[in-house]
Amino acid sequence: MKALVVGSGGREHAIVRALARSAAAPEILCAPGNAGIAADAEVFPEVAADDVPALVALATERGVDLAVIGPEAALVVGAVDALEAAGIPAFGPTEAAAELEGSKAFAKELMAAAGVPTAAHVLLRTHEEAVAALARTEYPTVLKADGLAAGKGVILCADEAEARGALDVYFTERRFGATAVVMEEFLEGEELSLLALCDGENVVPLSPAQDYKRIFDGDEGPNTGGMGSYSPVPGFDAATIEEIVAQVHRPVVAAMAERGTPFHGVLYAGLMICADGPKVIEFNVRFGDPETQAVLPRLRSDLVDLFRAAREPGGLAGMTAEFDDDWAVTVVLASAGYPESSSKGDVISGLDAAAELAEVTHAGTAAADGEIVTAGGRVLNVTGLGPDPAAARERAYDAAGRISFAGMQIRGDIAARAVERVANH
Ligand code: AMP
Ligand code: GLY
Repeated sequence: MKALVVGSGGREHAIVRALARSAAAPEILCAPGNAGIAADAEVFPEVAADDVPALVALATERGVDLAVIGPEAALVVGAVDALEAAGIPAFGPTEAAAELEGSKAFAKELMAAAGVPTAAHVLLRTHEEAVAALARTEYPTVLKADGLAAGKGVILCADEAEARGALDVYFTERRFGATAVVMEEFLEGEELSLLALCDGENVVPLSPAQDYKRIFDGDEGPNTGGMGSYSPVPGFDAATIEEIVAQVHRPVVAAMAERGTPFHGVLYAGLMICADGPKVIEFNVRFGDPETQAVLPRLRSDLVDLFRAAREPGGLAGMTAEFDDDWAVTVVLASAGYPESSSKGDVISGLDAAAELAEVTHAGTAAADGEIVTAGGRVLNVTGLGPDPAAARERAYDAAGRISFAGMQIRGDIAARAVERVANH
């Protein structure tokens, strides 16, 4: 069989590797891919992830049996709809179902209707309306661009002055391309990424993960796409996960089906575990990056089987996703200037030495004159595996220490929390 993975990040590289372990022994194509994925799949650098006609043409020409879409940008413009219409089986939500991520306003309305716990919020459509709302709210508060902003459109505001500054970013500078802003209640607690495979009816949870969104140690500095992750998460056993899925994922999947837009694909709940229970921060309709790099190396079940089943209405009935008992810790290596900018063309060394210890997946890399060079903000992911969080973490950092490039940024505290918790248990 032939599988086409769409995207070019560490997430897609991890998906390619997990597909390669399938009993179906797929031939794997990846569009556009990157310099690292090129070692594990046939890559198509000229086909952009959100160029739907080009994806359909490639999949048709090559007789692809299963397309897997990584990034939301392709899903929200109907990549799955177009591929399926052309007779290419595609894993992921339709354009209509991808609204859960594409519009925070839609997600909030659906959660209210389905009784899913989330932060209280108001939608602010104009700058004037927003200024008035800021004067009446409690602080800290959270402002978010309504639309896709790659996890960077959220601003936590300690007081009204900060919040007014944030409004300038959204409405005057238009930095996140939003036409409206969501203001929501500041939630306190521990964050959890709980991803689940959905077939329009059933929900199959994956092993939980935690993501580190800020650029600096101790959760300081601006938000990024994610600087590291680990899986599983201490304190979240199967029974606890099932409780969360019952409160969050199942009601959402039921509500989407009732509305005639059944949800197939990965439903990623970004949760805050608050004193009074889990609350949804956001939904994504795809695998998380870098959560996937920590979750999929631990997957024992056949990913081709799961993806194929999730496409069929009710196809996941009776299926589960099984994981190794090993822990995984992923550290992201980012280029100078990230997240505000990124540095390109810096030569990367030590990749082979790192791969002896850990799984190295590529994100913003390119091949140039026989070398691998940086080509984006998040450059590489290094995933260490081990029988406990401390061993996995040590492997990840030892391997990452073998890699170098000019201006490399790396957080030093990924999974430190998990190590401490398990040690004190
Ligand atoms: P999002 O892009 O919505 O996932 O938000 C990015 C990050 O901002 C989250 O991972 C949280 O760390 C933080 N955040 C978002 N919404 C809230 C909230 N309501 N309360 C506290 N922190 C939040
Ligand atoms: N790691 C956050 C995300 O994938 O959106």
